[in-house]
Amino acid sequence: MKKTVLILNGDGIGPEVTTQGAKVLRLMAPKAGIELDLQDGLIGAAALEVTGEPLPDETFAKAKGSDAILFGAVGDPRYDKAGSTERPGRGLLTLRKQLQLYANLRPAKVLSATIDASPLKRERIEGVDLMIVRELTGDIYFGEPRGRREEAGQKVAINTMIYSEPEIERIVRFAFGLARQRRHKLTSVDKGNVLEVSAFWREIAIRVAKDFTDVEFGSMYVDNAAMQIIRDPRQFDTMVMGNMFGDILSDAAANLSGSLGMLPSASLGDRYALYEPCHGSAPDIAGRDVANPIASILSVGMMFRYTFGKPDADDAIQSAVDTVLSTHRTADIMAPGKQQVGCSEMGDLIARQLEG
Ligand code: IPM
Ligand code: MG
Repeated sequence: MKKTVLILNGDGIGPEVTTQGAKVLRLMAPKAGIELDLQDGLIGAAALEVTGEPLPDETFAKAKGSDAILFGAVGDPRYDKAGSTERPGRGLLTLRKQLQLYANLRPAKVLSATIDASPLKRERIEGVDLMIVRELTGDIYFGEPRGRREEAGQKVAINTMIYSEPEIERIVRFAFGLARQRRHKLTSVDKGNVLEVSAFWREIAIRVAKDFTDVEFGSMYVDNAAMQIIRDPRQFDTMVMGNMFGDILSDAAANLSGSLGMLPSASLGDRYALYEPCHGSAPDIAGRDVANPIASILSVGMMFRYTFGKPDADDAIQSAVDTVLSTHRTADIMAPGKQQVGCSEMGDLIARQLEG
């Protein structure tokens, strides 16, 4: 089976962590019977600098020719003040929208090896294994009208929260399907006590739930969900929500494991797929070989599972990560008695573990 993978390093620590992800990808592909055609392209500030665009046409054309994209991170403080089309993050948002990557999967799993890295008490988080399904192509992120204007002589800024019935139904059905492969429990998150969009979302979720009676289903307000994720995260299995709430709650959930540097994600559509770490470009530590590459490596695991249909390879990658963490750590999850290593050495250790 031949697969084309586009590697988009992006900015900050993107290149160094993605190099380690790609290392594991190249190692595992032949073992899983996959012949790789690896491409690369520019995105984010790295692309802005060369082409003036956060997502150059050439990169987009390569994305359309790919089976999967391995993405690093985008964002650069030098562009913080830029107008909205010049922001490095727009490259990623355009890619998500244009490739219709509507289902964003963000697992938050507390590994026994790094349980002490969590800011929460062990007894609250032991065994936490939740999956946030975030709608990724709609909501206030893309709604029109948006922008700035003058109203009655005053400057105002505006964004629009909007979801269509098919958009909501598609992501809720997707999440029910995923819950079926997990522990058969789904929580839908909204702000239905205040927002019309959310009340609509809740109504549709309740209707769709009738087709999945084998899955335990409930709706929860987003403010309560934020509290519950910290107070008692084990109550959750699969969670589904809109783009904005998913952006916020997935960062909260990510922190349960102690380091954002460990969490992978998959953004899936009907034709394309993009895999990326949940963390950002971390410009403060970029280029020093101290970043944690595990999120990128686990994102490659998700690629094997969801795009290549090889869950065994994902299991092997997860277990190699677990084994290496029992003795070695990057700075962000360093613990007494462990040996501290840099980004590339962590990648090498995991690769060596996979070689067996
Ligand atoms: C994320 C990020 C992005 C988002 C940014 C970089 C545009 O925070 O993937 O969660 O808000 O979706
Ligand atoms: Mg975010």
